[in-house]
Amino acid sequence: MSDFDQVVRGGVVVTGADAVRADVGIWGGTVAAIGQDLDTSGAQVIDAGGLLVMPGGIDTHCHIEQLEPDGTSYEDTFEIASAACFAGGTTSVITFAAQFKGQRLGPVLAEYHRRAALGMVDYSFHQIINDPFDAVIAEDVPEVVASGVRSLKVFLTYDDVRVNDRQYLRVLAAARRAGALVTVHAENYDAIGWLTEALVKAGMTAPKYHPWGRPTVVEREATHRAIALAELIDQPIQIFHVSGPGPAEEIARAQARGLKVWGETCPQYLVLQAADMDRPGFEGAKFMCSPAPRGKAETEGLWEAIRAGTIDVISSDHSGHSFSKEGIGKRRFGTDVPFTQIPNGVPGLAARLPIVFSEGVSKGRIDLQAFVRLTATNPAKLFGLYPRKGTIAPGADADLVLWDPAKKVTITNSLMQHAIDYTPYEGLDVTGWPVATIARGQVVMRDDVVTAEPGSARFLARGPYDMIKPRGVFPNGFDTSAIMI
Ligand code: URP
Ligand code: ZN
Ligand code: ZN
Repeated sequence: MSDFDQVVRGGVVVTGADAVRADVGIWGGTVAAIGQDLDTSGAQVIDAGGLLVMPGGIDTHCHIEQLEPDGTSYEDTFEIASAACFAGGTTSVITFAAQFKGQRLGPVLAEYHRRAALGMVDYSFHQIINDPFDAVIAEDVPEVVASGVRSLKVFLTYDDVRVNDRQYLRVLAAARRAGALVTVHAENYDAIGWLTEALVKAGMTAPKYHPWGRPTVVEREATHRAIALAELIDQPIQIFHVSGPGPAEEIARAQARGLKVWGETCPQYLVLQAADMDRPGFEGAKFMCSPAPRGKAETEGLWEAIRAGTIDVISSDHSGHSFSKEGIGKRRFGTDVPFTQIPNGVPGLAARLPIVFSEGVSKGRIDLQAFVRLTATNPAKLFGLYPRKGTIAPGADADLVLWDPAKKVTITNSLMQHAIDYTPYEGLDVTGWPVATIARGQVVMRDDVVTAEPGSARFLARGPYDMIKPRGVFPNGFDTSAIMI
């Protein structure tokens, strides 16, 4: 009798370091063994002949059922977003709990745990800090981090939710004391406001002017500033959604100086262009996200930054805004509105792995192991989920994606399995597709059919870990985070 409940037999097992033909034995939802010709007697055999067997994807930046300051919410529920994740080979997410002005963090986080109750994909949260008042900094941040939410998120732009530099410093210092990573949306708020006012006054208000209002330089400046202020506090940070080589260069320089700064990008910056927003009428709204997609040269520069390791995580930044429904999503404020009033963000939970695989591995830009590192292993390491998640090794959760590297698919919205009525990737041809997803030993997707049980998700509480420990180096030798200001 075999030692395993299931054996995934005959595939090529790919981790961040290796690609070897082997079987994977699973017992009690965790990986029990990897080896040749494992004993299958009495075990369920999952045939992986001709397939790659990779760690399930980890999407560390996706907006699921997230509230907006006006009380509306991103449209995908945790349940539907989970189906989209499994459809695309992703088995863990880190989404957001959003604080707005005047709110204490405890009730905010409790509300997001409530929302996640019917989810199926394992999850954690980044705590968004919008209003770092005294009690939030002194009491709430330590409590939230101790509960396993070991990353904070700040926006340096967007009316209503951004923090100014002084507030950002406060959040950095609070994170340092509590032992959390800070993630940053880095664009210059005032520069965007200035440019936007000029564009609106000049009557340049169509969706195609969205990228004009936030050119690379505003991202580059804010990335530099986000890093400089993090250096002042000696606090590790990750820069979210890097759109091109300009801001990536700022990160590379910081890394070369030994700072704990990491960079993330997203599929939209690898396959969409600013020109996609230049379409008749409201159509360009489908592609509007911030930072804005750039051009083909920037995309190649981004791949160089990925190969160099400057950018080491690719997440989706999934944002569930429908396109065609009146009064919600992209049309929340109507269609006859300037680009400033069109909600930002594009959906992409299910498209992430196929796009990165196709554009990266199938087109020869990266190898298989790099694909796994970018989409699973590195996010797991950076956010304190490794080695339980993000690899295939004895003791790890049996989160696997069985992948056909030769399957050609044209992306269409019905394949995305989200609640959103469009995908910005409609019509994109990809080579490489997930044929089965296994979450903690359960087959939750096979041939595009998701079979998971609502409520089967587990919260991933993240304890302290070395990677995000501050360096103990201060510009003037003075640790300001030791003082509560
Ligand atoms: O345009 C985007 N990225 N929308 C989602 C919110 C954010 O900035 O991450
Ligand atoms: Zn952002
Ligand atoms: Zn985002």
